[in-house]
Amino acid sequence: MNKNYYITTPIYYPSAKPHMGHAYSSIVADFFARFKRINGYKVFFLTGTDEHGLKIQRAAEKNKKKPLEFCDEISQTFKELSKTLNLSNNEFIRTTELRHHESVKKLWNILEKKGEIYLSQYSGWYSVSDEAFYSDEEIENKNGTKVSKSSGSLVEWVEEESYFFKLSNWQEKLLKFYEKNPNFILPKSRKNEVVSFVKSGLKDLSVSRKSFSWGIQVPTNKDHVIYVWLDALTNYISALNYPDTDNNLYKNYWPADLHMIGKDILRFHAVYWPAFLLAADLPTPKRVYGHGWILSGEEKMSKSKGNILDPLEIINDYGLDQLRYYLLKEVSFGNDGNISKEKLISCINSDLANNFGNLCQRVLSFTEKNLSLIVPNPENFNNDDLKILNNFTNNYNELIEFVDNQNINSYMNFIVDQMFNGNKYFNDQEPWKKKNNQKRLNTIIYTSLELIRKISILLYPVIPNASLKALNIFNIKEKMINIETITNNKFLNPGEKINKINILFNKVDSND
Ligand code: MSP
Repeated sequence: MNKNYYITTPIYYPSAKPHMGHAYSSIVADFFARFKRINGYKVFFLTGTDEHGLKIQRAAEKNKKKPLEFCDEISQTFKELSKTLNLSNNEFIRTTELRHHESVKKLWNILEKKGEIYLSQYSGWYSVSDEAFYSDEEIENKNGTKVSKSSGSLVEWVEEESYFFKLSNWQEKLLKFYEKNPNFILPKSRKNEVVSFVKSGLKDLSVSRKSFSWGIQVPTNKDHVIYVWLDALTNYISALNYPDTDNNLYKNYWPADLHMIGKDILRFHAVYWPAFLLAADLPTPKRVYGHGWILSGEEKMSKSKGNILDPLEIINDYGLDQLRYYLLKEVSFGNDGNISKEKLISCINSDLANNFGNLCQRVLSFTEKNLSLIVPNPENFNNDDLKILNNFTNNYNELIEFVDNQNINSYMNFIVDQMFNGNKYFNDQEPWKKKNNQKRLNTIIYTSLELIRKISILLYPVIPNASLKALNIFNIKEKMINIETITNNKFLNPGEKINKINILFNKVDSND
């Protein structure tokens, strides 16, 4: 069985500093990367920045900087954000790196040699903000200007010589490809949109620009730079050292298991990208998941709308794990979501502090007072103990499936239920009344410690910092975490010393 797993985030435009939407894509991808690792997979998790094109060139000009100098600065803030978000990415790719240039040029050469690219004349609409070409049907008039119907961004008229990729040739093959790979595009609702777009007829795609120079030159024609999306998408294989297809990274990890992206860029990933790869005789990724947007009020966040939520501010005010927990639990995955302070505070206070944090503190103080922080020897488990412990064993396969189907919410609901059940168990069993029945007291505490261990393991992909702190109670270090151990009811060794921990989550006063 192939135990390698390759997951990617979109590579972000360093046209302005990162916002919550970017943080969201990255946190979600990190959840999957971390889960797969504790499920025994060798994971390669990639993120990075998308640095070419007119959008970046103009942003640099506006800031009176050379494009590369500008990208160096902003790309660095994305790199720092990856650290701040505690992403477990193995690589951070920048499309201005030489290795990426080589990879894009090679792909171009293959496509050109295969007759998939030809020179002609482009005339049509272009949105610099989306770096996308739009047909007449895809634009509308708004307040006297022309904008894209889907993104609302301004379009301008472009007429210039351009290379075209024969996308129209791939229409039928793409439809067959979607049919053969029914889970290639998720969620299902988004897949339907893509399929109808392809069915409605694909036109050849302009894949070069002549009127500006910030990009990778077309190898056979120095007057053109390669279309930024053909350039950007190739990052997913450049990071694996393509065109060297014999090296281990490429051999082990391509095709990618999951491109995690926002719904706004589904067309590029689910139509253009597989078409380029099929045309170049390269394997296609296994899945593209288009998540929803984090809205600011009712709208998508964007620099031009001036409604940016800054992830750093929220992290400063509430904490990183608190934000990660909120985004993974409260946003219905696949749909748009909102960040509301009330809901964030309620998550922190009820789920993290009162439920999980409280369970850890109560059980630990009791174990300290009554058992000197030594794991007790359990007697036979009774039905109450088994019921709660076996929940993990009985749902183990389902939990793995939830993650494999990107069903984050069911995974989170399971955890929340177990946190609640854990506290209820401790309350109902009343170990403080069992001081004259040492054997029963031992079993209750052993069971409670096992519950904390199991829940902490499940929380690792969600809130890695807090989970590691909690697992430190049992001297379980990051490298040792294995999801399968949640099916073991007797993982902890009686007689072993456990460690006290500081309060995991402070409650937040809603007036703060
Ligand atoms: N550079 C391209 C992606 C190239 S991938 C080969 C790009 N960059 S972006 O910086 O504009 O946005 C990248 C991703 O950030 C979006 O696809 C989406 O995943 C995420 N988000 C940007 N704004 C968002 C929200 N408001 N909400 C959630 N995610 C959104 O597109």
